[in-house]
Amino acid sequence: MLLFWQCSNSNLEEQAIKEKKRLKKELLNNLNVFAALPNKVIDPKNNPATPKKVALGKLLFYDPILSGDKDVACATCHHPDNGYAEFRDLSIGVNGKGFGSKRVFKQPNNIPFVKRNAHTILNTAFNGINTKNYYSPEDSPMFWDLRSNSLEEQALLPIKTYEEMRGDHFSEERILKEIVTRLKNIPEYTVLFKEAFDGTKPITEENIGKAIATFERTLLATESRFDQYMRGDNSAISLSEKDGFETFKKVGCGNCHNGPMFSDYKAHTLGIPTNDKLTAFDSGIDSTYAFRTPTLRNLRFTAPYMHNGSFNNLKEVLEFYEDIADGKEKHEKVGHAQMDTLVNELKLKVKDMAPIISFLNTLNDSNFDKEIPLKVPSGLPVGGDIEI
Ligand code: HEC
Ligand code: HEC
Repeated sequence: MLLFWQCSNSNLEEQAIKEKKRLKKELLNNLNVFAALPNKVIDPKNNPATPKKVALGKLLFYDPILSGDKDVACATCHHPDNGYAEFRDLSIGVNGKGFGSKRVFKQPNNIPFVKRNAHTILNTAFNGINTKNYYSPEDSPMFWDLRSNSLEEQALLPIKTYEEMRGDHFSEERILKEIVTRLKNIPEYTVLFKEAFDGTKPITEENIGKAIATFERTLLATESRFDQYMRGDNSAISLSEKDGFETFKKVGCGNCHNGPMFSDYKAHTLGIPTNDKLTAFDSGIDSTYAFRTPTLRNLRFTAPYMHNGSFNNLKEVLEFYEDIADGKEKHEKVGHAQMDTLVNELKLKVKDMAPIISFLNTLNDSNFDKEIPLKVPSGLPVGGDIEI
């Protein structure tokens, strides 16, 4: 009897080991899920792009008329000089002046920091794209906590958000009506909206969102050296960068950073250290401290990193991953047991860091639209109060 038990026990163990090996192999095979970005963007059915709509959306993106106090534009925090992201950890919207790392609150001030780091708008047209190259512009995840799901819908949210663009003088219910009224009173906008949209009343909240989203879909960077390599130019990336790609896959980064955007667009709990500028914990999605996997494209232009801008450079990011792979905890509220199970799959050593960083460099494409309008129809400063 005893013999039988021992025997079946070791059989079970053997089976478990076999199963583990099989899973690992499958995972490795599945990791062959990296691809170039498509060259073309899909528009939502109810918002096809036209050159007029794009041009209007661009002006709106740079025009601070969309903010309560007329001093913050989308471009204040998403500027081409910073890869359409922002060179600071947490954004300053309302009552701010200056640009990027030099932006400060005007005094006196009662407005808090925006609690998160601004994403880049580059390639957000592809948000949600999966390993089979499928995505839907009507259902594409937005924000660190996935709380919006299209560019059209997202575009109106910063305008309504107190510390980003709305400020003290308008309620959340009132602000968009106010913006519509303002735009109707600017003759150039009445012409531009009429040319971009059908109907007798072209200036609406919905059409503001549609125009901005259409412009955002033109902010593409699809010609990185990695894209050229995946499209067949074997010499587009160097041997050591290819090694870095293999290391990236081998250590398990691709379990979450996969598909053409290097994001699974899912929520994961990693326990990024807190940002001392914030007075309360940001507990992420459903209070689980989970945040959405961000793209790894164009990191050269979009430092600092993570949902709260905690890390200034890629070395700090890699050191963090080495720590959590080693079982360490970096956030007082997030123990190892609470972290994503895929963290257990991470096998990262110090020697892997430099090759991975060199691979990440192949994902930059500086050839994106950097043209800033010389003026906007409101006559206000282009991009808001960002002169330094
Ligand atoms: C005060 C700074 C600020 C302003 C102004 C601002 N944003 Fe943002 N933006 C952010 C921050 C911070 C985030 C990340 C917030 C989050 O995920 O919770 C973000 C996220 C986004 C995203 C999500 C990208 C992604 O991959 O999920 C889009 C799209 C976007 N902003 C577009 C806009 C547009 C359009 C405007 C103007 C109507 C605008 N933003 C104004 C700071 C700003
Ligand atoms: C378990 C899923 C998962 C794994 C595995 C993973 N990441 Fe991440 N990555 C994320 C999530 C989620 C974030 C955002 C976390 C946050 O801000 O709270 C992130 C953020 C990043 C960022 C910051 C990007 C930005 O714009 O802020 C970089 C760079 C990065 N990861 C690289 C890597 C590398 C390299 C590896 C392998 C060593 C790796 N990741 C492994 C899920 C993962």
